[in-house]
Amino acid sequence: MDARQSKRVANTPRAISLREAAQDPSSGHFRALTLFDESSSTVFAARTMVSGCLQDWGFGDMVDDARLVVSELVGNVVHHAVPDECLTRPGAARRIDVLVKAWPGWLFIGVADEDSTPPDLPVGEFVSPQLAGDFAEALLPDRGRGLLIVQRLVDAVWWSPKSLGGKTVWCRFDLDGTT
Ligand SMILES: Nc1ncnc2c1ncn2[C@@H]1O[C@H](COP(=O)(O)OP(=O)(O)OP(=O)(O)O)[C@@H](O)[C@H]1O
Ligand SMILES: [Mg+2]
Repeated sequence: MDARQSKRVANTPRAISLREAAQDPSSGHFRALTLFDESSSTVFAARTMVSGCLQDWGFGDMVDDARLVVSELVGNVVHHAVPDECLTRPGAARRIDVLVKAWPGWLFIGVADEDSTPPDLPVGEFVSPQLAGDFAEALLPDRGRGLLIVQRLVDAVWWSPKSLGGKTVWCRFDLDGTT
């Protein structure tokens, strides 16, 4: 390779992967879907949006976990959220916003609803796996497992109030740096 060729190679921008591009803050990788909970396909629509988005951004390996997480969070809105009085519109469906954001090193999934009541985030273990042994499954309650599963799959779970009422439950996946 002569000097001119090697200079050209050095000046050629390195091809960046979808995954790298999704984490570039200047390109603003953010996707949102607003749903109104009157349809039996609400959770399905949320799952489909999240998996499509992660595939597009090169995070295909995270799709299974993300689908389970969003199913639990949207399912919780469907089952538990009661809109604040100021947000209640007679006869109108409840609103759910599903948000996906990629940021350098992190992927966030948020599910927003119109209920300011915080979720009951599990603290610690229901039962020590060492003590419970083979009976752990039998000792767990039938309900209240959803957020526990979410906590196991992601690196952090928290919630934040929305300025006009309601809240967003957030999850953070720490990315391993592979591109
Ligand atoms: N979006 C939400 N709005 C209001 N309360 C919530 C919301 N999400 C969760 N909660 C509260 O937190 C509790 C724990 O949620 P979690 O998903 O762990 O269990 P669950 O929904 O009761 O049962 P499971 O998910 O096992 O069917 C719920 O019972 C509910 O009281
Ligand atoms: Mg639940």
